[in-house]
Amino acid sequence: MTTLRGNWNYPTLIRFGAGRIVELPEHCRALGMQRPLLVTDAGLAALPMVARAVKLCQDAGLGCELFADVQPNPVEANVTAGVAAFKAGGHDGVIAFGGGSALDTAKAIALMVGQTRPIWDFEDREDWFTRVNVAGMAPVVAVPTTAGTGSEVGRASVLTDLRDHTKKIIFHPKMLPAIVLEDPELTVGLPSHITAAVGMDALSHNLEAYCAPGYHPMAEGIAVEGMRLIREWLPRAVSNGADVEARGHMLVASSMGATAFQKGLGAMHSLSHPCSANLNTHHGLTNAVVMPYVLEWNRSALEDRMTRLAAWLGLADASFDGVLQWVLDLRREISIPHTLAEIGVREEHARPFAPQALNDPSTGGNPLPMTERDFEQLYLNCIRGTLAAA
Ligand SMILES: [Fe+2]
Repeated sequence: MTTLRGNWNYPTLIRFGAGRIVELPEHCRALGMQRPLLVTDAGLAALPMVARAVKLCQDAGLGCELFADVQPNPVEANVTAGVAAFKAGGHDGVIAFGGGSALDTAKAIALMVGQTRPIWDFEDREDWFTRVNVAGMAPVVAVPTTAGTGSEVGRASVLTDLRDHTKKIIFHPKMLPAIVLEDPELTVGLPSHITAAVGMDALSHNLEAYCAPGYHPMAEGIAVEGMRLIREWLPRAVSNGADVEARGHMLVASSMGATAFQKGLGAMHSLSHPCSANLNTHHGLTNAVVMPYVLEWNRSALEDRMTRLAAWLGLADASFDGVLQWVLDLRREISIPHTLAEIGVREEHARPFAPQALNDPSTGGNPLPMTERDFEQLYLNCIRGTLAAA
């Protein structure tokens, strides 16, 4: 069945359903755009779906142009170039079109077209977001083409700061795109290994949000159902990319993950960010590799929680071990490597990456408090494949 369709209003306006890309011009108009800048990455820019989206807007009378100077793990220069293109073209809004890198860059461009301060002044620290000139921000319609990052419903952009090779989070509540258009047909061309990697990013968001300490039943409710969808549909989306129903459920599960992680993330993301910032490893793939090691590390804080999750997921072994085994089985089924060594992280990286992981904003959401030594040990576990359950 590919007729799944929904119009939702939280955490923002979401229009979900196969083929709904044709609604793009009306959503741009609804936000007051006459000349949207469509921001995507260089790889996607060559695909027919991008040309079609631009043409849909142009045929509807909108002065739509393309900006595609966006690299994986985007950097400040991508944002600066986008701001220049926005101003040179007299644009009045942004269509954020693509995977996490394109969406994050597009959101940052929409923020920065109205600011005079440097972008790093808006890092997600203390109340730095109050420095933003909100009136200068451009409106954003987000169109995700991967199911994983959930950036389309997020209030932040992750950018690599080349001055110290760290991932930094640029945050403002109004960076949440005003309208999200989720068309699963846009994701059918994604190769299976990327589908697997970004799908595991979605799982890591739901899982880390669910495990983060703090009282937030709304986030937890979204997270557990997000994980149930992933359990049922990620293997199908990986094995048959043309399964639009599987693609649709994964797109929603991805948005659910990013909605839930307002509660917090944890050490999976803390470990992953330094690997991507220094070695350009794929974010979702890195999370997928470290996932069971982090779960096992946090076991003492998670026994009750995992028992409840296992019941909801319908696992035969309704316990912490049941969830851990499910994660290991899922990883194997969709061909995720078992160790960080297999994706280029070496033992000598453990020590320099540990303080970066400790300082990562995700660390505060880990179920157990972490030290620099803990992160060094956890890196070594992930690199060597040290896992009792495996
Ligand atoms: Fe993530």
